[in-house]
Amino acid sequence: MGALEVGLPDVVRADGLPARVTIWEVGARDGLQNEDTVVPVEVKLEFLGRLADAGLGVLEATSFVHPKWVPQLADAEELLAALNQVDGVSYPVLVPNDRGLDRALAAGVRHIAIFGSATETFAKRNLNRTLDEQYAMFDPVVTRARAEGLDVRAYVSMCFGDPWEGPVPATQVADVGKRLMDMGCSQLSLGDTIGVATPGQVEAVIGAVGDTGVGVDALAVHFHDTYGQALSNTLAALRLGVSTVDSSAGGLGGCPYAESATGNLATEDLVWMLNGLGIDTGVDLAKLADTSAWMASRLGRPSPSRVVRALRG
Ligand code: HMG
Ligand code: MG
Repeated sequence: MGALEVGLPDVVRADGLPARVTIWEVGARDGLQNEDTVVPVEVKLEFLGRLADAGLGVLEATSFVHPKWVPQLADAEELLAALNQVDGVSYPVLVPNDRGLDRALAAGVRHIAIFGSATETFAKRNLNRTLDEQYAMFDPVVTRARAEGLDVRAYVSMCFGDPWEGPVPATQVADVGKRLMDMGCSQLSLGDTIGVATPGQVEAVIGAVGDTGVGVDALAVHFHDTYGQALSNTLAALRLGVSTVDSSAGGLGGCPYAESATGNLATEDLVWMLNGLGIDTGVDLAKLADTSAWMASRLGRPSPSRVVRALRG
């Protein structure tokens, strides 16, 4: 029986790609924040346990945002208190402000992510702040988190288009990213919140960010798959030297404050491509697809991931 029949792609390497990719799994946060129903904490705990068992080393676990803004993640304290953290796995959480950092520190968190917007409108809608006010909100968070020895990632949303403002200039994205990095963040994740990007645009934005002095080794890419472009955009980023890619198991996801956003790039679709390219991820694809099929059954709808469907029917 050939490899394809047992659910593995044939491995053919291509030049100019990293040997290893770190997958930053966002299903438990970006995925579940967008579900109509609140997933019980026991299901979230099993989800995170199974994702770690499938070999994922970074599991974005939840958000310490206002519970009225994202009720799906209002159980952040309960979740972290009950979470059996696996050695060697990192469990970052989203933190928007000082109050969120207080909560995260009290929960013993060691790794946080702030999340800025590249556009004025989305800053207002997602953070209830202007662009300038978002910096004033994040700056003390990053300073205090670093003083406490935490690792801090910065997201920038709407890097490739905004549903209210339309096209977003690459230099505008780069300026926002640089400003967040200068606060003391160690990684910058470029978000295509509504999934409209195409590969040439990915090159332009990564180039503009590079022009500000932020190295490609500090970059991650975060593609939603609304228009089916997430995988080709990821390949474009890998060719430019990016080696951290955000994705969500089974393609769960979206953003409650950007209505046109659908799920993230599915982790299974990403792993299939990386396996085929001979790029190491440490992920057991069969275990991961089983996990997403199980989560889909808990949510009462099929997984949107093409690979989960192909492997699991
Ligand atoms: P606000 O209403 O302006 O908050 O919300 P405020 O500072 O005016 O405070 C009002 C009250 O809320 C106060 O209580 C605060 O203590 C409380 P009061 O004194 O009136 O009793 N409060 C909080 N309580 C708990 N936890 C907190 C917190 N903060 C304030 N952290 C805020 C501002 C930023 C909090 C709000 O807008 C918010 O929570 N936004 C989060 C929205 C969100 O989570 N969106 C989804 C994540 S972003 C995303 O998905 C994109 C990404 O995936 C990348 C991509 O795809 O591009 C990352
Ligand atoms: Mg997102």
